[in-house]
Amino acid sequence: MGVILADFEAMWRELAPIGRSASSGGYFRQPFTPAERECHAWFVAQCETRGLEVESDPVGNTVGWWRPSGPAADEPAVLTGSHLDSVLDGGAYDGPLGVVSALAAIDLLRDRGFTPQRPIMVGAFVEEEGSRFGLACLGSRLATGQTTWAQARDLTDRDGVRFGDALESAGIEPDPGHVVWTKLRERIACFVELHVEQGRDLVDREVPVGVASAIWPHGRYRFDFAGEANHAGTTRMEDRRDPMLTYAMTALAANKQARLGGQRATFGRVDVRPNGTNAVPSRVTAWLDARAESTPALEVLLAEVERQARDRAGRDGTALSVTAESVSGEVTFDVDLTARLAAPGGLPVIPTMAGHDAGVLARAGVPTAMLFVRNPTGVSHSPAEHAETADCLAGVEALADTLERLAGDGG
Ligand code: GLV
Ligand code: MN
Ligand code: MN
Repeated sequence: MGVILADFEAMWRELAPIGRSASSGGYFRQPFTPAERECHAWFVAQCETRGLEVESDPVGNTVGWWRPSGPAADEPAVLTGSHLDSVLDGGAYDGPLGVVSALAAIDLLRDRGFTPQRPIMVGAFVEEEGSRFGLACLGSRLATGQTTWAQARDLTDRDGVRFGDALESAGIEPDPGHVVWTKLRERIACFVELHVEQGRDLVDREVPVGVASAIWPHGRYRFDFAGEANHAGTTRMEDRRDPMLTYAMTALAANKQARLGGQRATFGRVDVRPNGTNAVPSRVTAWLDARAESTPALEVLLAEVERQARDRAGRDGTALSVTAESVSGEVTFDVDLTARLAAPGGLPVIPTMAGHDAGVLARAGVPTAMLFVRNPTGVSHSPAEHAETADCLAGVEALADTLERLAGDGG
């Protein structure tokens, strides 16, 4: 493992400064920005150094192929990897850990003298977080046809830049006529994504590596509250139509509703117009991230938050519209594949409330499973996210063992 430790640490050191904020220590790697492109170029160079054949699709999803010789070169591949983009001010591990571990697992397999009997592919999907264009797992959704080019091209970022234009500025020629990776299902035998754990389950169990069982359904909903701009001093309290009040009460209602149901509801982003201290705002736009254990439960949660928001809007004299921007259904990972990952090491099998490209591929019918690496802080989507190197190496070893079984003689 000494070689792999040096290898893992060298890759981690190279990625560490890219897109890192000097003030918070968090990462800003939004898709098609210079920082994310630098990570992408780093990934391509790492694949090339290892002699992997690099292929990108027309939206920037990129894979490196390790092909066996002979007819097996065209067999469906075992795909592993993750993503390199981050949320705003995110942690170092969410995404990159899966990509670096996949590369390190290839090195470990070669160190063991392993020769694949079917191709192994290491991949990095674009815009997994939906932090720029609002749609979670946009790259893998496009790759699997769950989102079409027509739906994606006009999505805009906060500065009004269209997705299609962002791709072109990054030198990627989107090809609307080409349905991205149309034959994905035929080219991929299965997908195993390694990811940092985003909670405390493995910490509590005192084990470094676990396997995912399922992903909760989740969605992002834009709440537009419209009121009337007016003077903060001269407008009597009873004469106001203040959308901030409706929003504030909605945030409290969402929190209470999710607590009552053992679910999740978060307003993490708010846009206020005109955003002046001495004026009642004219408009508040707020994004609700809601998650629940089943699709019906998620629908009930959203409906109840919306009902309470409308009720309050009626009393505040404001107007409300709600738009679903990104909805991801529930996912149960492939039972056989999950058992094959968990059985040899007796790894715990745990559910997650976080979204992943693995969920999108699973919904596309690709047998999919996930490995989680313990996160001692339990914190994620924050600079405090962490994983100890020894745990990361345990993850690399579990991934290499998995790839060996899936792409070896018995695969
Ligand atoms: C992605 O990490 C998500 O769960 O939102
Ligand atoms: Mn994430
Ligand atoms: Mn992730």
